[in-house]
Amino acid sequence: MAGRRTAVLISGSGSNLQALIDACEAGRCAAEMALVVSNRADAFGLERARRHGIAAEVVDHRGFASREAFEAALDAVLRQAGIELVCLAGFMRVLTSGFVEAWRDRLLNIHPSLLPAFPGLDTHARALRAGSRVHGCTVHLVRPTLDDGPILVQGVVPVLADDAVASLAARVLEVEHRCYPLALDLVARGAVRIDGDRVTLPRDARTLVLHPELADHAFQP
Ligand code: GAR
Repeated sequence: MAGRRTAVLISGSGSNLQALIDACEAGRCAAEMALVVSNRADAFGLERARRHGIAAEVVDHRGFASREAFEAALDAVLRQAGIELVCLAGFMRVLTSGFVEAWRDRLLNIHPSLLPAFPGLDTHARALRAGSRVHGCTVHLVRPTLDDGPILVQGVVPVLADDAVASLAARVLEVEHRCYPLALDLVARGAVRIDGDRVTLPRDARTLVLHPELADHAFQP
């Protein structure tokens, strides 16, 4: 059976997009990668889509007079392609509540921190400055408030004594690539019961990804 028709919105490298494509192709995720949309023509993720025979489009935000006009164009592209679910994967435009509400409960985002800690930008630098022992990523349903919404899956990594932003970001990206396919699979299979701002997941759902290095630094009584 074909999976739910899913679009991935990107602005850059698209390594999370690649993880979603790979999981769908391997039958680990009940979604069909039907469309990739970038707001930047030079995003490498567009090339990743083409390599896998996935439709790829550019909707350049700079060509529109307002956020609303940009989002109307985005919405039209998604609807024309018969899209049912939308994944934000390194899509670096803030979406207005109009767009978010139009796609309510069908719009997922991945954020590079353990929400509700560190919403917004520069999450790795802020986790280092705060002296956090753990850091990670969150896949959640999108609500109008930035980096807010019901949490689906989280990935946890240790923050190591000699970490810099680049090393920590790379470790987080490893768990991002595991978390996003798990979360999309749960939504695409209809396994997520949404009740306002919380979700109920099956008891056996895998909703936590632990980085292998976590165990080296943990006290396990
Ligand atoms: C990822 O780390 C993602 O969590 C982050 O951008 C990166 C995109 O990488 N997203 C945000 O910061 C959203 N505010 P990718 O293009 O290789 O998937």
